[in-house]
Amino acid sequence: MNATSTLRIPFFLLLACASLTGCGPGGSHSGEILVGEFASLTGKEATFGVSSHEGTQLAIDELNSAGGALGRKFKLLTEDTRSTAGESSTVVNKLIARDGAIAILGEVASSRSLEAAAVCQQAKIPMISPSSTNPQVTETGDYIFRVCFIDPFQGTVMANFARNTLKAKRVAVFTDVKSDYSKGLAKYFKEGFLKSGGGEIVAELDFNGGDKDFKAQLTSIKAAKPEAIFVPCYYTDAALICIQARQLGLNAPLFGGDGWESDQLVKIGAEAVEGNYFSTHYSPDAGSDKGKRFVEAYKKAFNGKVPDAMAALGYDSAMLLADAIRRCGSTDSQKLRDTLAATKDLDAVTGRTTIDSHRDATKSAVILQVKGGSFKYIETINP
Ligand code: PHE
Repeated sequence: MNATSTLRIPFFLLLACASLTGCGPGGSHSGEILVGEFASLTGKEATFGVSSHEGTQLAIDELNSAGGALGRKFKLLTEDTRSTAGESSTVVNKLIARDGAIAILGEVASSRSLEAAAVCQQAKIPMISPSSTNPQVTETGDYIFRVCFIDPFQGTVMANFARNTLKAKRVAVFTDVKSDYSKGLAKYFKEGFLKSGGGEIVAELDFNGGDKDFKAQLTSIKAAKPEAIFVPCYYTDAALICIQARQLGLNAPLFGGDGWESDQLVKIGAEAVEGNYFSTHYSPDAGSDKGKRFVEAYKKAFNGKVPDAMAALGYDSAMLLADAIRRCGSTDSQKLRDTLAATKDLDAVTGRTTIDSHRDATKSAVILQVKGGSFKYIETINP
């Protein structure tokens, strides 16, 4: 049963409402520039949405203190996707048609960005994902952008890490088949690992995100005697998988991608995640001067909390949008799209950002290790 499909309001009806209320694109009676945001503020990946929203809000507040753009202030309208399939297209439809958002920022999770990208592309409203890394997100169409690297790169980074740093020849891969992110990253990892020479994938097992018992698959993985286990998924599942692997006496290191990054990984996984590794976009310990200023401002705004990758990329997504609005001198969607596409060398917290011909950004990756209950910076890998 799909409850959301019965609640979904047809796009044309919402458009009709918008024109009746006179609140057309960009627009607003108050003259503010309306920016829509969709984020997983609650549910299974709540830390993703909360961090990314905080980073985005901080950017909007800083932009407004500096006068906004085009003589107008920005207003961020945020909707919760509840970490649930079907919700993103509904809320993004509303942000565009009911509220008249001139651009959309979000999401973290690739499956949810993919859902919303179809809506934005059809409405010709620019969308910027802060941190979805599946290549298909921007392949949806020419109005869809991101400020982060993509998984063919991240998969290769972790393949080389497994082969060269962990010195693993026998690797198992455990994939969440409900997640486009997990399926894509598993594929690119395998390709990269086989290419890196001398390595073998000794087991490939699947699970469904949200499962609670992984013992059957982990028992098969154990039987294949891997030297390391690649688990490209999100933090809740990753933590449970690490716990159950240790319970089964599987002592090989487990490692993942950016989806592991959450303080919840350590809260849930405790000693079972210690020593394990993951790749991500950003470390507060490896920042430029701009990065350091961001860390200070973020801590000040959010009770001393240290920003993670989602926060930094959320911040950068709003800055990319504001930069384009200022450069094109308009919120017209086609002009804005063209200006976003021409972005070069924007000085962003996560590094210089140039939008390439696929509307993606080329950025470095960092590898972190869980050490003493927090994340220790290991190395930066340049593209
Ligand atoms: N890259 C992940 C995805 O595409 C989301 C993510 C980004 C998670 C950054 C954590 C940190 O689904």
